[in-house]
Amino acid sequence: MESCVTAAGVLFTLLSTIDTVLSITPQTQEQVHVVKNVSSQFETTLWQPVSAEYIKAEADVHLFVPANSSQAVTDLLQSHAISYEYVILLDNAEELIEMQTKNDSTDPRSSQTFYERYHSLEDIYFWINRTIQDNPATVSVVLIGSSFEKRPLYALKLSMNNQPNKKAMWIDCGIHAREWISPAFCLWFVQYSLSFYKRNHDITTILDNMDVYVLPVMNPDGYHYTWTNNRMWRKNRSASSGSSCIGVDLNRNFDANWCTEGASNDPCSEIYCGAFPESEPESAAVANFLRNHRDSIQLYFSIHSYSQMLLFPFSCTMDEAQNHADLLEMAKEASQKIQRYYRNHYKYGSGSKTIYLAPGGSDDWAYNTGIKYSFTFELQDRGRYGFLLPPNYISKACNEALIAVKTIALRVIEKTHSFVGTA
Ligand code: ARG
Ligand code: ZN
Repeated sequence: MESCVTAAGVLFTLLSTIDTVLSITPQTQEQVHVVKNVSSQFETTLWQPVSAEYIKAEADVHLFVPANSSQAVTDLLQSHAISYEYVILLDNAEELIEMQTKNDSTDPRSSQTFYERYHSLEDIYFWINRTIQDNPATVSVVLIGSSFEKRPLYALKLSMNNQPNKKAMWIDCGIHAREWISPAFCLWFVQYSLSFYKRNHDITTILDNMDVYVLPVMNPDGYHYTWTNNRMWRKNRSASSGSSCIGVDLNRNFDANWCTEGASNDPCSEIYCGAFPESEPESAAVANFLRNHRDSIQLYFSIHSYSQMLLFPFSCTMDEAQNHADLLEMAKEASQKIQRYYRNHYKYGSGSKTIYLAPGGSDDWAYNTGIKYSFTFELQDRGRYGFLLPPNYISKACNEALIAVKTIALRVIEKTHSFVGTA
């Protein structure tokens, strides 16, 4: 008995010296109130839900707690009898962050394991360059704009042939800075497409019928910031007049019921919608490109993490999209394929019904602009590591997303009768 107490004591002391992630489940309204206030009293980062106003009874809250706040936060929870557990137990958060940023520079950048690691923004720019140089006939680069801090926004265009009236799809990654698995997916997708064209039937059909635009990092300033200053940063890095708080949530900045319920007009909020729709250079660049190519682009994907969901419009209203049944069928098929091949569960449905009202999103805006097949994916995991998904999970997470993209793209080609080539 005594040794038990000691062991627990040691564990507790240990846990209060490292960064951790807590899963907290408030049961009563009073407990909800306490948990809502934790994030404003202590230096913590809310991982789930995205903003404190969505904390409700019986729903798990994921909270990143730096070591120096650990004791105070757990004391507070205990004093209100609020149940919590440590989600990141085996590997502490600090170690995880270190693991994610450690890249063996002796590894040739072209090696297969390149895609099973996370990369700094500088490395990604380097990779973009190398990819267009190595594939001059099929890959080109489009400069669609620049970020608030004047970094270039490069999209890659994969085009295997020059058919007249060729259709296209768009994939953007890294709209939210801390969701590192997202840019990793964009790189993975490009590499897979280039390696398996003419070797895998489905990707061949897709690339024969569609050009693919891939924007690997939509929020380069934020992404850079997560590598250099704060791993938990979500928004872009723009300054707003009248507040010292930095950053706009780019996925609240599009013109789709902009800044209504589910977004905030407070520059300090994680879901700040910005001064006006498309106020941010990053969202304006994407919106302009999609507007200019809306006749060819039929299919839109935006890649996020975490929570394992395949979402489609609307998120900005509870209303159903006009082609809801089609979108639901596609997402369902994609989710079933993931389940069958990778034994992993992905929820699917419209954004507003599956997670929460979130206006101003790129997917809803793309849909309203005429891209009727529009999806947001939330990749792995469901909260065990959250944004700190270790690199050895990259391949499975990306393969899951890849099979979902392929499944949906094939259905879109079928439905829009734009099919050419081998069956
Ligand atoms: N987690 C994403 C976000 O909060 C969900 C995106 C779903 N789509 C949307 N338009 N809100 O931005
Ligand atoms: Zn996100």
